Amino acid sequence: MQLTRLVYASHHGGTSEEALRDIFDRSCSNNEKDGITGLLIAGEEDFLQLLEGGRTEVAECMMRIMKDDRHQRIRILLAGETGSRLFSEWSMRCMTTAQIRRKSRIATG
Ligand SMILES: Cc1cc2nc3c(=O)[nH]c(=O)nc-3n(C[C@H](O)[C@H](O)[C@H](O)COP(=O)(O)O)c2cc1C
Repeated sequence: MQLTRLVYASHHGGTSEEALRDIFDRSCSNNEKDGITGLLIAGEEDFLQLLEGGRTEVAECMMRIMKDDRHQRIRILLAGETGSRLFSEWSMRCMTTAQIRRKSRIATG
């Protein structure tokens, strides 16, 4: 398998918990089936996502994501071969920037 990593940013302009839950549920079940792992960060207005897996599987997943009207202005920031996965244990970990801020406050005291 040709291991591929892809990172993109997109704009949603304000999303709902329901939309995030749906994206998360679909991502987890599809990605587990397709051997894709990664991370999705939802900010107040933008998404940042990292996908890693087989080249064909990542490309097909990205084609579906690009057709999704829950976000726009998709910019591919990085796409290429990689030797190993950064997030091998997560079929898709989803976090909001608010959760990251809360966690980093706890970590730094
Ligand atoms: C920001 C964002 C990230 C997404 N990430 C994934 C993903 O990692 N894997 C996935 O299968 N679908 C992802 N989706 C959902 C796809 O766009 C699409 O709705 C889904 O793959 C369709 O799956 P289904 O045919 O099983 O319903 C994402 C959608 C958005 C808006």
